[in-house]
Formats: sequence, structure tokens, C-alpha cells
Amino acid sequence: MVLFVVLLVFCSCNQSKTILTPKPGPGPRINGARIFGVRPGSPFLFRIPATGERPLIYRVTGLPEGLVCDSLTGQISGVIRNPGKYTTIFEVSNRLGIAEKPFKIVCGDTLALTPHMGWNSWYVWESHITDSIMRASAEAMVRTELIDHGYMYINIDDCWAVKADSKDPMLLGEPYDTDGYMNSNRYFPDMHALTSYIHSLGLKAGIYTSPGPLTCAGYTGAWKHEETTAARFADWGFDFLKYDWCSYDQVAADTSLSELQKPYILMSNILKRQDRDMVLNLCQYGMGDVWKWGKSAGGNSWRTAGDLGGSFEKIGTALFRDGFDVYTGNELYKYGGPGGWNDPDYLLIGLLSNWKGATVPTPLTPDEQYTQVSLWSLQAAPLILSGDITRLDEFTLGLLTNDEIIEVDQDPLGKPGRRVAMENGLEVWKRELGDGSIAVGLFNRENYRARISALWNELGISGQQRVRDLWRQKELGHFSGKFSSTVNAHGVVMLRFWPAN
Ligand code: GAL
Repeated sequence: MVLFVVLLVFCSCNQSKTILTPKPGPGPRINGARIFGVRPGSPFLFRIPATGERPLIYRVTGLPEGLVCDSLTGQISGVIRNPGKYTTIFEVSNRLGIAEKPFKIVCGDTLALTPHMGWNSWYVWESHITDSIMRASAEAMVRTELIDHGYMYINIDDCWAVKADSKDPMLLGEPYDTDGYMNSNRYFPDMHALTSYIHSLGLKAGIYTSPGPLTCAGYTGAWKHEETTAARFADWGFDFLKYDWCSYDQVAADTSLSELQKPYILMSNILKRQDRDMVLNLCQYGMGDVWKWGKSAGGNSWRTAGDLGGSFEKIGTALFRDGFDVYTGNELYKYGGPGGWNDPDYLLIGLLSNWKGATVPTPLTPDEQYTQVSLWSLQAAPLILSGDITRLDEFTLGLLTNDEIIEVDQDPLGKPGRRVAMENGLEVWKRELGDGSIAVGLFNRENYRARISALWNELGISGQQRVRDLWRQKELGHFSGKFSSTVNAHGVVMLRFWPAN
């Protein structure tokens, strides 16, 4: 039994935005994933994420044949021809010192060896997305230094293609060219130039379509044009595809499992034949328990529920329902892992569209925002911001750039965490990490501050444990038997435990 002592201090809606993440120090530090997958013969693109006073000098020892590292940008590029597991050492130095980190490059069939990290346009720009917004967003990922913490994808969501019945002349035109290749609308005059620009910043580019005739917002989909669409995305230079079910139920023969799987199997097989790597995100809202077959259908991640931000006012309710209950109710921890991840949707923090024509701050309280990022990291979920990356305040930046939280998300073992104890709305979560330590989340879903205890027997550990507060990046000391902390209403305390000896 978990011991819970409730403190009768009620939630204040005007919580202060306390920034817990310490600023990165001036010394070099290498952040983000420790492993990266690429297919033989595909262009390799990975920029070493590192913080510290500039200039930084980057070096890699043990790079496989075919790859080179630019010592001034940390950009690794080239092509690996021979499949294999390559153990390299990243080294980043500045006038204050040198940081080292082992990094594995796995050249084989599997992409997305850790959850995706990046930005997606949907929840802030929805149908107002343009080429120049995408460019500005990519620049912002560099300027805000999110790139130095491991964020790498800049993904266009819906609304870049032609919309045949639109009143906006910029969206009109032929949906496909005469050879059957999908066209972009006039807000995207040159997709190839756009991805080249994104790549030149050391980032990767993502795109979106539907297997149905139309996307969810009524733009052209890939129905009966799957081969040419994938070839066009590869030719344009995209690295990521979100494939959104949308109108596919109009063309599916029935509601059987095989019909649910069909468009995804078809697309993943086509993607495998392209000469560049494209990570495939299945978006079909969890139908047919997608977590049970998403990976075998070729997906690198699968949305586990509907849109978290579908109703602006109800984002908080959706966060608790989809983030906690869908995950635990379906034991989703059993299904995610290297190559295929549960995707509970984007990080709804910062400035978002309110679907009424304005951009407004997230309705999540500061504590709920800490809860979302912590829960996503414990679940090994993709960390994709969908708020306005060009206008991030210090608080939101702090939420996104805590390297010790990101390290949990990106842990190379890739084993998603799970809830191990619950009493009312007070929950203890645990995730096993590659170095033998565990990450522990104390979550308070109640409307009052409460004390939550994590008991060793529920965590499956014993003996003295060294405990660290991950948001504050502070050692808390050595503990035996249990660890207790007071947790804000709708808030979290994120910890990491190492056996003390
Ligand atoms: C939804 C999808 C959202 C977004 C939207 C675009 O089906 O779940 O994430 O892509 O379509 O129209």
C-alpha cells in the first residue's frame, strides 16, 4: 500500500510559472539520444546536440566508413553501405573543457530507435500554415537552442496540399500533376527548397497526408496515388510522414482489422523502397488496438487516442484521460519500444490556436504542463511540441529543455514505464532505464496538494537508493524503504533512483 497523507491546501488556478530547469552551464554537455538507426544506403543526417559556451568543437571517434562529422557544426553526414552496429564516441569541447558520450549508430532496417523529438505545425497554425512559417519555425528551433537538446524534426501537418473546393485561390489547382504526383498548394511554392533549407540548419523535415481521398481538413489525400505520393515525398527530401486515416473509412471495404491495417502496410512497404529514410507515424486514433499491430504494419509510432487538443477548453481533461487512463487501461507499456512508439499526441504547451482565429496560451496550468512532459518521458512517447516555436517564453523553454527529463524519454533501452501504485488520484509511475537506474514519477491528479510515497516493494527495488530530483537537477540524498514528497494539485515530482552501492 502506498501511504498518502493529504494536505488540505487547495489548488490555486493562478499558479506561478516556476521555472525548475536550471540553465545549461558554460561547460560542454552532450544531450539527447545515445543511439540512432539508419538504413544502408540512405543519406545520414544527425547533428550532435550539445550545450555550452560557443564556439564548440565537435569530434567523433569510431565513425563507420562513409560518414564524416563537421567539427564546427556537429553535423554528421554521408552514407553507410554496410549494415552493422557501430559504437562511436562523441566529443564536444570548448575553452572550459571537454565532454564525451558513447553513441551507437545502428545501420539496419529499424528507424526511430528512440522516440521522435521535434515540432509539428497543427495545434498552433492548423490551416494557416505556409512555407515561410515552416522556415521561421526551423530557424526558431536553432535560435531557441532546442536543437541543442535533441529536437530535430520540423513537421508540416495538414493543409499544405491542394483543396479543390476552397474559397481561397491560393489553395486551388490540380491536386496531382499529369504524372500523378501530388501537388502542393501555393503557400508552398517549392517543397524541395523548403526541405533543403531545413536540412541546412541541421534539422529533419516531416510531412503529412491521408490514405483516404481527402485529409481531415479536406485537402488532397493519397488514395490511389500511394506510390507516386511516397516517391514525391522522398524526392522533395522529407524524413518523416504522418499518415492520417481521415476519409479512409469512405473507401475501406469494412471495419475489419485487415482493412484498418491495409493502408498502413501498403504505405510502409512503399516507403521501404525509397532511397531515403522516412519515419512513419500512424495516425488513426487507436482504432483496432493499433498498439498491438502498429509496428508489424511498419509504423514507427502510432497515435493511441483522438486529438488531445481537439477542444481547446478540454485539453486538461483529455490529458488525464488519454495520457493516464488510455495508457494504463490498455497496458500500453507492453507495446512501445525501439522502432515503434506509443504516441499520445503532441505537447500542448506555449501558445496554441484556440480554433477561433487566435493564438492563446495553453489552458494547462503550469503543474499540468510539468505533468505532461514528465508523463510523456516516462511513457517513452515522442516529444513533439505543437505550440508556437517562434514565440516561446522562458517557462515553456524550461519545460522543453531539461536534459535529465529528456534523457529519460530518450533512454536507449526503450522500455516504456508504467503505473505501479495508485490511491484515488495519487499515482506512482516507474520506468526502467538502460543503466540499471529507474525513473519515478509521483503524480497528483487531485485538486489539492498531497503527499505521495513511493514504496520500494511497489517499485521492485531494495536497499539504499540515491535519489535525484530530475526537474531541479538536484541530489536529494540516500533513502531506504520509501521516498515521500508533497506534490502540487495536478502536478508531478520526477525522480531518478540509483542503487547507492
Ligand atoms: C486529425 C489528426 C490531427 C491533425 C488533423 C489535421 O485527424 O489527429 O493530429 O493532423 O487531423 O486535419
